[in-house]
Amino acid sequence: MQYRLLGKTGIKVSELCLGTMTFGRETSETDSFAILDAFAAAGGNFIDTADVYSRGISEEILGRWLARQRREDFIIATKVRFPMGDGPNDTGLSRPHIMNGIEASLKRLQVDYVDLYQIHGWDPLTSITEILRSLTDLVRRGMVRHIGASNVTGWQLQQALEISRHRDWESFVCLQPQYNLLTRATEWELLDVCRQENIAVIPWSPLRGGWLSGKFKRGMEAPPVDSRIAIADKNGWGERWSNYNNEQTWHVLDTLFEVAKETGKKPAQVAINWLLRNDVVTAPIVGARTLEQLTVNLGASGWELTPEQMNTLNDASATPVSYPYDADAQWQRARD
Ligand SMILES: NC(=O)c1ccc[n+]([C@@H]2O[C@H](COP(=O)([O-])OP(=O)(O)OC[C@H]3O[C@@H](n4cnc5c(N)ncnc54)[C@H](OP(=O)(O)O)[C@@H]3O)[C@@H](O)[C@H]2O)c1
Repeated sequence: MQYRLLGKTGIKVSELCLGTMTFGRETSETDSFAILDAFAAAGGNFIDTADVYSRGISEEILGRWLARQRREDFIIATKVRFPMGDGPNDTGLSRPHIMNGIEASLKRLQVDYVDLYQIHGWDPLTSITEILRSLTDLVRRGMVRHIGASNVTGWQLQQALEISRHRDWESFVCLQPQYNLLTRATEWELLDVCRQENIAVIPWSPLRGGWLSGKFKRGMEAPPVDSRIAIADKNGWGERWSNYNNEQTWHVLDTLFEVAKETGKKPAQVAINWLLRNDVVTAPIVGARTLEQLTVNLGASGWELTPEQMNTLNDASATPVSYPYDADAQWQRARD
């Protein structure tokens, strides 16, 4: 396992981060422990969770596992924003919800601090000044080491960075966006902000919930009944079949299979390596329902797609852009 700097923090994280969204949902505690053990044995030190994953159960499982480890060996990231109760203030990024949220997360995780506390999304009802002041207080109290953001737009991220800069408050050091071969609009604004500001990038759903894992092939009529995509169909999640069963997806998958064949690697490993080869990416957050899946996904690290293979994948997965991201508009911003 290689290690990379988490943006400008000086912290070295494994180039694969382990996602724990399946823990307590599709994955039992015993299997979650096996996944965590294997990840740590492979040199992984970066683990992502959220209060909302199985309404706290993911954090609890991780906490019971962490209780057996040396705390300092792991960089633990969690998130706050989504409902943790039915009350009107059990959600969002208000000061009370952030303050209550971190206390509850620390308790479930059985730790005194988290390394990275992320807003799970923007909150249109709470001013960003209020949010950043609350997060800064958590860092000053020692409950949180660094702060990060997920699911924000380019202007929101830049605005937050400027406010932190001008007030000398804690600043987001890490962005957790959805980014994969089927989701490339992330590149239009967000990755430019991150490159310019030296913000770490930790892509979620590197396999788009399983679409890029190799088990979905052109001609399939429906997802396997026990797959994430079938569950997504029932729950209306973003990765559901009807959102991706289209020619663009099958074209990307055809190309992914060709490159996988050429490299002798599995499609999932190629899809994750495509992210690892992007210099603005710090650590894709790999998801796994089983130990076998994690073992495959860990094999994404330790080798490199060639520039030609990267070009092939980039061309196949290119998303049509329009103004102000198209070539005409880029020309209007260019100077020799
Ligand atoms: N910030 C956010 O809003 C946000 C949102 C989503 C996720 N996340 C984070 O990102 C992490 C990863 O996201 P994700 O779970 O969506 O990642 P993903 O890798 O895109 O999808 C994981 C799913 O794909 C299938 N899969 C994974 N590896 C496979 C393999 N080798 N072979 C066959 N199937 C495989 C499994 O589903 P089945 O086998 O059940 O089909 C697995 O649960 C999460 O754990 C969480 O930490 C963050």
